[in-house]
Amino acid sequence: MVSIANDLAREPNLACCKWVAVCPVNRPPAYSGGSDKSSTPAIVFPTEDLEASMKHVKALKRVVPSPLWPYLGAVRRFVRTIPARTRWQKNKLLSSPTLTERERKLLSKVSSRIDPGDGMYHGDGEHYFNVGLSAIHCIDEALAAAGLKEVRTILDFPCGSGRVMRFLRQRFPEAKITACELASGPVQFCVRTFGAEPAFSSLNLDEVSLGKQFDLIWCGSLVTHLNEDGIAALFRLFRRHLSPGGMMIFTTHGDFVARRIPTRDFDYGLTPEQIDRIGQHYPREGYGFEDYPGEKDYGVSLTSPEWIRTRIREVGDLREVFFKERGWDDHQDVFGFVSE
Ligand SMILES: C[S@@+](CC[C@H](N)C(=O)[O-])C[C@H]1O[C@@H](n2cnc3c(N)ncnc32)[C@H](O)[C@@H]1O
Repeated sequence: MVSIANDLAREPNLACCKWVAVCPVNRPPAYSGGSDKSSTPAIVFPTEDLEASMKHVKALKRVVPSPLWPYLGAVRRFVRTIPARTRWQKNKLLSSPTLTERERKLLSKVSSRIDPGDGMYHGDGEHYFNVGLSAIHCIDEALAAAGLKEVRTILDFPCGSGRVMRFLRQRFPEAKITACELASGPVQFCVRTFGAEPAFSSLNLDEVSLGKQFDLIWCGSLVTHLNEDGIAALFRLFRRHLSPGGMMIFTTHGDFVARRIPTRDFDYGLTPEQIDRIGQHYPREGYGFEDYPGEKDYGVSLTSPEWIRTRIREVGDLREVFFKERGWDDHQDVFGFVSE
């Protein structure tokens, strides 16, 4: 089992892997998924890279006094997001024969600037940019399924540091994009880098009111971290912020992750006891949730497609137009619902 939780706990600013969520206000870094796909780019972290970088960190820690350790993380994040490096990573992906011409064209226009504080970037730029491409692929398919042609306003919630927003910016050049998060740093990065309008969220999602509605809401990997109440509140938030006929697209941990978790192939940041519990709960209820150790109401959720559909029916006036199992990065399920 790959487990980096302890390293991250000892060096909370490291936040070095793609499973680590952008650290929101008052929250330590947390994991966000992972897939075992080797053919297409995945929310898979190359284990060797992680282990290699951890070795360097451990070696440095032996010679650097402990009060300076947090600075090591900051230096490391700064170095690995040097623009020349991330540009080179983007170019590497651009030369990949797996891309379609359309993907290549879109990617060529996308900003290669990466926020040093982006917890979804662990150093592997090819993977990082590919996750964005995969999101656009799902969004395009869902828009086509809904017959939605015009997208003038977009809400990226939670935007993180714009892993997907950089693609939204180029795919919908005329659209007004709103970047919403708990933490202000990532929102400010999205404002500066992608010309987004800033908006700030709250731990209580029922309190969030952005004062406008959107043609498209993209939500990459937040349902995956919320419990039943949080997910219901998130759906209500999306419903009240959808324009008439607008579409919300969100991702979930479905059957694939539920099958994967008990194998202990990757721990998703949970303890062995939690893995046992969540793995037993899901087949019975179509739902399972465990808080990240030391956190409250934020962790890992497993939600079956039917469980999600029931929660959506409770919100009302939403019609399913799209579902793709493992649609995002061959890992998370993707749903699209249109407001009626
Ligand atoms: C796994 S990350 C995904 C970020 C981004 N969508 C991406 O794909 O790069 C989950 C994000 O949810 C944010 N988050 C957690 N609770 C939130 C809340 N109540 N409101 C808004 N954002 C929240 C975290 O700060 C974190 O950046």
